[in-house]
Amino acid sequence: MLETLKTPSPLTDFFGPIRDDLAAAERIFQQELTSEVPFIRELVAYLAHYRGKRLRPALLLLSARACGQVTPQHHVLAAVVEMIHTATLVHDDVLDEATMRRHVPTLHARWGNSASVLLGDLLFTHAFYLTSTTGSAEACRIIGEATNRVCAGELRQIGERGNLALSEDVYHEIIRGKTAELTACCCRLGAMFAGADEAVVHALERYGMELGIAFQIGDDLLDLVGTENKAGKSLGTDLEQRKLTLPVIRLLQTASAETSHQVRQLLTETGNHKRERLLPLLQSSDALNYAAAEAEQHAAAARDCLAILPETPYRTLLAELTRRVVRRQA
Ligand code: IPE
Ligand code: IPE
Ligand code: MG
Ligand code: MG
Repeated sequence: MLETLKTPSPLTDFFGPIRDDLAAAERIFQQELTSEVPFIRELVAYLAHYRGKRLRPALLLLSARACGQVTPQHHVLAAVVEMIHTATLVHDDVLDEATMRRHVPTLHARWGNSASVLLGDLLFTHAFYLTSTTGSAEACRIIGEATNRVCAGELRQIGERGNLALSEDVYHEIIRGKTAELTACCCRLGAMFAGADEAVVHALERYGMELGIAFQIGDDLLDLVGTENKAGKSLGTDLEQRKLTLPVIRLLQTASAETSHQVRQLLTETGNHKRERLLPLLQSSDALNYAAAEAEQHAAAARDCLAILPETPYRTLLAELTRRVVRRQA
């Protein structure tokens, strides 16, 4: 599997110390999705070179190693969280009508809405089945609860589409749900299944929550100012879909009446020129720095949670991740 990758992620080297654990999770992921049906095989094979950063399994495995031993259950759960994440991305690309993901055409672009919706469903159902094979009702409950919150977050974001008065508080609740609940769940499971005590499990869950929030604010900045070549995915889709993110919320809150009118006008127009036209307005305000500072604060809060852990190379990697998520280009 690893050899067939078209686009090795810049984090592949970074995750070197857990390379074997990630490879074990990768095998379980592929094994779980084998199918007799040629069409399903074709779609699943496409996913195999549709490779992302593997952040969620890495968080789970690093949390485990930072607390103790990695067990076979960890490998299964690492495959599960990547499967859930992949399902949300496959669905998200339908919602955003995105054409590129992970440096290749999206499933949506290649096979259309129906196949993408159903493949996303298949990934979710296999993830839940796979969780049950751990024999742990607690794992099923935690994975189920986190996925409920992710889906509710995505739905809430759709419900707020086009709401130009979206508040920062509601934005935070949305990103906490759609992104940070899953990263928090990864860290919690990693620590729990390594036998960590309650205080450590809680600290790592908090780390995952803060990291996830910083990561999504970074992603929302990327959508506005990043380059598609580096990010490997369609950008500007938040604006196209009129999903307000922190920099735009801040701009609307602080702009003069004239600029605010211009932004509102731009967001309601059709056509894919929004990012280009909005950029100078964002740059001449404090909106981009404001959002970056907010991401930085959450990253620092995540770092603080690690103090409870013994000093190990795994703790160092978890700390380093908090720096990378706010400087992301992909
Ligand atoms: C993308 O997540 C969706 C968000 C939560 C922003 P990633 O940036 O982790 O996507 P991949 O897995 O690396 O493609
Ligand atoms: C949605 O976030 C993905 C989930 C967290 C479920 P985005 O819409 O920002 O993700 P990208 O930017 O398309 O990767
Ligand atoms: Mg998207
Ligand atoms: Mg995004």
